[in-house]
Amino acid sequence: MKKAFPKETQRAKSGGRQPSDVPHTSPTGTGRVAVAIMAAGKGTRLKSKHPKVLHEVGGKPILAHVIAAATKVVPPTNVFAIIGHEADSVRAAVQHTGIGFVVQAEQRGTGHALMVAREALAPYDQVIVLSGDAPLITPETITRLSEFHGAQKAAMTLLSADLENPFGYGRVIRKSAKSAEVLAIVEEKSAGARQKKIREINAGFYAFSVPELYSHIEELSTNNAHGEYYLTDMAGVLHRARRKVVAMKTADAGEILGSNTRAEMADLDARLRMAKCLQLMHDGVTVFYPQTCVIDSDVEIGVDTVIEPFVQLRGKTKIGADCRIGSYSMIEDSEIGDGVRVREGTIMESSRALAGAILGPYSHLRPGSEIGEGAHVGNFVETKKMRMGKGSKANHLTYLGDAEIGDGVNVGAGTITCNYDGAHKHKTVIEDGAFIGSDSTLVAPVRIGKGSYIAAASCITDDVPEDALALGRARQTVKEGWAREKRAARKA
Ligand code: UD1
Ligand code: CA
Repeated sequence: MKKAFPKETQRAKSGGRQPSDVPHTSPTGTGRVAVAIMAAGKGTRLKSKHPKVLHEVGGKPILAHVIAAATKVVPPTNVFAIIGHEADSVRAAVQHTGIGFVVQAEQRGTGHALMVAREALAPYDQVIVLSGDAPLITPETITRLSEFHGAQKAAMTLLSADLENPFGYGRVIRKSAKSAEVLAIVEEKSAGARQKKIREINAGFYAFSVPELYSHIEELSTNNAHGEYYLTDMAGVLHRARRKVVAMKTADAGEILGSNTRAEMADLDARLRMAKCLQLMHDGVTVFYPQTCVIDSDVEIGVDTVIEPFVQLRGKTKIGADCRIGSYSMIEDSEIGDGVRVREGTIMESSRALAGAILGPYSHLRPGSEIGEGAHVGNFVETKKMRMGKGSKANHLTYLGDAEIGDGVNVGAGTITCNYDGAHKHKTVIEDGAFIGSDSTLVAPVRIGKGSYIAAASCITDDVPEDALALGRARQTVKEGWAREKRAARKA
């Protein structure tokens, strides 16, 4: 069912924007420049219940990449996303960027998207139109398009590219091979056999003179294969009105790729991931077998850190210098200091490891874990909401949740903080220098005093004072000769 939008949401929403700071005069002398990002479409070819522009490539929504490029060219208040299909979720996903929104409640084509944005764009001289489903566009190309448009004094400039296989794209019909001037754009479905042979395609990015666009936009019609208002028809409309329409070819056809299908998305994702790895290597990070590493766009890594094959680094993860991140580790929204060794198969979520810490293999750091300087967390150790001090160790088979652990503490294999009583979570405190014998259960709330000693296999239910020994287990009994007698009885 189509969602109805109240009248006021049809207008651009722009947070606390004041009218005085709307016009952004481009440093390149192209006047007040806005960017409109078309992001209202459903993405039928994905067969998805989620809007196309919120599908992720390179670890974030496709639209977020386009917004990031746009806001490097003009301030966020000059950027408008035209949203429609699942508008609320699209808005919620990118609202933090500070851009404005225009709602195209019914998606009647790319031309219609710009009709709806008329009021928001009226204060500007030039509008750069981007596709919300083409995330590889760079700020440099957006700037070049804007400048080329200004220099040509054109009414419309379209970005074009020569493709080996132009199938599916709109084709650019130039006045002549040598001329920048364009007569029309012909969509695949309307193209004749000769036009289909044209390899110069319309990339789906444009610069328009705002007054020229809106003096002629009503001349668009829905008389075409999809019954939509095509923005591409503005080329023919403006040409017939004797306004200048030109094309600017991209140097890199890779930049204009769209994501109409899941296969195309996989391709974009691979390109973004590889570009990220190459950037990291350029900045002094070693990435072995980068084809196997999945590193999100916003991840930061210091020099001389080594990333082994098959590592995933996600979200806002930040890793220091001289670290080594072992294969099959997955680190998300976490912070890692300098010289940290993360051994194979470690999972780390919203956690921190300070300088010189050693994690893994196979440690699971759940949200809110902080591993202190030089501390060790080893095989099959699970932590959650836990702070561990300098040089402390929990090397094997342990659960430490809702715990405050001091410096120089040794947590023996098999130790468990019993933090949950079925209704509430309770805290365990282990003070500096305490020694927790293997297989101890610490029933929270409980405090283990500084320098104290917990005997192996103890169940500790009461606080242990400083420097004490606590035993909480059955006393060992030995029955001399019992086994020998048992064997003898069996033989008889
Ligand atoms: C479009 C161009 C085509 C070009 C290609 C480049 C048209 C008619 N065709 O085709 O010439 O070669 O891009 O990739 O423009 N959208 C809206 N509102 C709508 C319809 C679409 O906001 O009513 C948005 C979509 O969400 C998408 C963008 O506009 O982000 C482009 O629409 P899409 O349907 O993907 O156009 P293409 O078929 O790729
Ligand atoms: Ca597209």
